[in-house]
Amino acid sequence: MSAYEIEEHVYDVVVVGAGGAGLRATLGMAEQGLRTACVTKVFPTRSHTVAAQGGIAASLSNMGPDSWQWHMYDTVKGSDWLGDSDAMEYLAREAPKAVYELEHYGVPFSRTEDGKIYQRPFGGHTTEYGEGPPVQRTCAAADRTGHAMLHTLYGQSLKQKAEFYIEYFAIDLIMSEDGVCQGVLAWKLDDGTLHAFNAKMVVLATGGYGRAYFSATSAHTCTGDGNGMIARAGLPLQDMEFVQFHPTGIYGAGCLITEGARGEGGYLTNSEGERFMERYAPTYRDLASRDVVSRCMTMEIREGRGVGPNKDHIHLHLNHLPPETLKLRLPGISESARVFAGVDLNKEPIPVLPTVHYNMGGIPTNYWGEVLNADAQNPDRVAPGLMAVGEAACASVHGANRLGSNSLIDLVVFGRAAAIRAGQVVDAAAANPTLNRASIDKALERFDTLRNANGAVPTAELRLDMQKTMQADAAVFRTDKTLAEGVEKMTAVAGRMGDLNVTDRSLIWNSDLMETLELDNLMPNALTTIVSAEARKESRGAHAQEDYPDRDDANWRKHTLAWVDGTKVTLDYRPVHTDPLTPLDQGGIDPKKIAPKARVY
Ligand code: FUM
Repeated sequence: MSAYEIEEHVYDVVVVGAGGAGLRATLGMAEQGLRTACVTKVFPTRSHTVAAQGGIAASLSNMGPDSWQWHMYDTVKGSDWLGDSDAMEYLAREAPKAVYELEHYGVPFSRTEDGKIYQRPFGGHTTEYGEGPPVQRTCAAADRTGHAMLHTLYGQSLKQKAEFYIEYFAIDLIMSEDGVCQGVLAWKLDDGTLHAFNAKMVVLATGGYGRAYFSATSAHTCTGDGNGMIARAGLPLQDMEFVQFHPTGIYGAGCLITEGARGEGGYLTNSEGERFMERYAPTYRDLASRDVVSRCMTMEIREGRGVGPNKDHIHLHLNHLPPETLKLRLPGISESARVFAGVDLNKEPIPVLPTVHYNMGGIPTNYWGEVLNADAQNPDRVAPGLMAVGEAACASVHGANRLGSNSLIDLVVFGRAAAIRAGQVVDAAAANPTLNRASIDKALERFDTLRNANGAVPTAELRLDMQKTMQADAAVFRTDKTLAEGVEKMTAVAGRMGDLNVTDRSLIWNSDLMETLELDNLMPNALTTIVSAEARKESRGAHAQEDYPDRDDANWRKHTLAWVDGTKVTLDYRPVHTDPLTPLDQGGIDPKKIAPKARVY
């Protein structure tokens, strides 16, 4: 592939992605004096974290009693007992520290009367191990928390002299012959040059793959790029069948209306004006966990009680709340409702529908962010030179279903953990490896093939086929039939990648080629999602399989691993980590509290 000239850059650490997790990792690495580069396809403050609204969970106890053990219990229950207990403990225990760090870095949190960080209720967050009332645990900067975090973390990273490569598209990992990650190959979008980033540690912080679906709250940039690179490197993806639908995407537009709206007192109604969540979740009602609320909304619609002329959506009411509360606490969604639904939320309900929002699955890691080259025999084997954090990763802290506001805290806790770990394992004094030319050539060959793709199918057409298939067949409710059909259809869709047509052959601002590379990343995400879902014969968290309505811990309390080769997906499983990190007599959670039981809200 000598037609392409490549400029080499040498660093200790290269972070790919500049959302909340990527920036927190970048900042932490740079603070420790590691030579750190952050390679990102969009400007850092435009990363998808900017869309995170409601807040970040941490048991600060600013608004009433709380503890990290209660937060951990809620996370375990939210995960439907599929999360790894070591990672879930680490998340809940480190959360307050990570939020105070953000405060000290300068995140402009909303405040209580006495100047503390304001916290609001969110779905599935409770007191007394699920026996007490909802807790106010979600720290908020109005309803623009992700926006506030990104600006602060980017500024702090610059202060620490981290170097940013902005609007560089990461093509593939550069791997040594013996499976060590040596860096990443990237395409500079504005001048068409190619760049090899040589690093002792690569951190993938590339976000989720919401755009495998037709309707998602995720930005168009959420194309699972890191997951695609992992799959092409022959490494497994984990728990891909668990896709979260957020209860309140704006009907038709898909934009997010934060769960903070229900946290501030909003509620859902059906066509009969009934607050139906009272029937399904008598204790926590509209603040039950997301998978539960999304399923209840879908059942109301299926049973003919949806609102609107087609009875195909649900109403979210905020019009009973004082206008000052809406202005102070929910200014962003007031604007979104007006722009995208034509609704004045002081007067009318917002039309909403469960919408794809988050991927619980992704790149398997331990709780330090180290990528796992796992299989059944080697469930915790680390892939050297490689880390993953944020939505791209599967630590697994969210298991089968993530609680709202546990995503932002995941970003900073595990971004920070990865930096701490890199400080221990990356030797800044050591020489960088010589890059494996064969690995670079393989990446260039794929790039060049797609650039010159001369088949019959436009990228946008194939992408739409994929999105419609996933939307129809890997939905809120699944059956053996829909999943089997989905596997067949997705295999056929992915099989047409070889018949793509890219019309623009240039290398400068070639959005046709970039979207094709993104589609090539989305495909393994979509395929592993539907194949893993088809194989899982139980219902757990976001995977609601109507032919197997119960959770089956005896056979299915295990993580799915999925490898992709072309259109073929191979599955294996690894055990869930059930032991917390801290023993009970040293202040840890009582293991009896987190033993599996029926999940009711
Ligand atoms: O509803 C929201 O504000 C979304 C939060 C989250 O996904 O954590």
